[in-house]
Amino acid sequence: MSSTTDPNPTNVPLGHAYDGIREYDNPLPGWWKWLFVITVVVSPFYLLYFHVGATGRSLQEQYQVAMDENQRKKYADLPPLTADAATLMKFKDDAKWTEVGKAIFKTNCVSCHGAEGAGVIGPNLCDENYKHIKTISDITKVINEGVAGGAMPAWSTRIPNKNDIIMLSAYVASLRGSNPAKPKGPDGSPIAPWSADE
Ligand code: HEC
Repeated sequence: MSSTTDPNPTNVPLGHAYDGIREYDNPLPGWWKWLFVITVVVSPFYLLYFHVGATGRSLQEQYQVAMDENQRKKYADLPPLTADAATLMKFKDDAKWTEVGKAIFKTNCVSCHGAEGAGVIGPNLCDENYKHIKTISDITKVINEGVAGGAMPAWSTRIPNKNDIIMLSAYVASLRGSNPAKPKGPDGSPIAPWSADE
């Protein structure tokens, strides 16, 4: 642009120039400034509402709540499952369902087996060694009946829903091979990989 054409001839230069560039006093449009003012005024409320206030207000949280609700419905609609190896193999690899088992584990098992199943009073459930388990459906048996004279309690009456026991067993099976932070040393002996046929 040549120095003789002023893009806005009504504007007056402020009378100072640098490197041949003259500064004009060109105010931002009024609508732009108001937009800015509105974002500044709204932002603290936004922050308080979505990030400081009660949980469950952000889109992600609402989405998660809806997904959880949907999952609960699907769980309630499940027919009574059979505690066989094929069923356990199927559910242990499905993160949506192992979440169900994990919730039951959190309520009942962490005191003796640790939050990640790494073992406290009870043995480590994340390694390759087991004392009472040879096949995947032995997990269900141990949980239902207990072992070691009640040191590992029987859960069949405490967790009466059979599908809960299956989800719990599948979750325990899924712990194998995970790397918890502070694993308890191995108990029992190594066993063959989980398998659907036994
Ligand atoms: C009061 C403590 C306690 C609680 C609670 C407990 N366990 Fe155990 N569990 C044990 C002990 C102790 C053993 C090992 C028994 C032994 O040494 O023979 C064990 C063993 C096991 C085993 C067999 C491990 C192996 O190596 O063979 C499984 C599987 C298991 N528990 C799952 C669970 C689940 C699932 C829950 C929650 C429903 C649970 N336990 C709750 C104490 C507990």
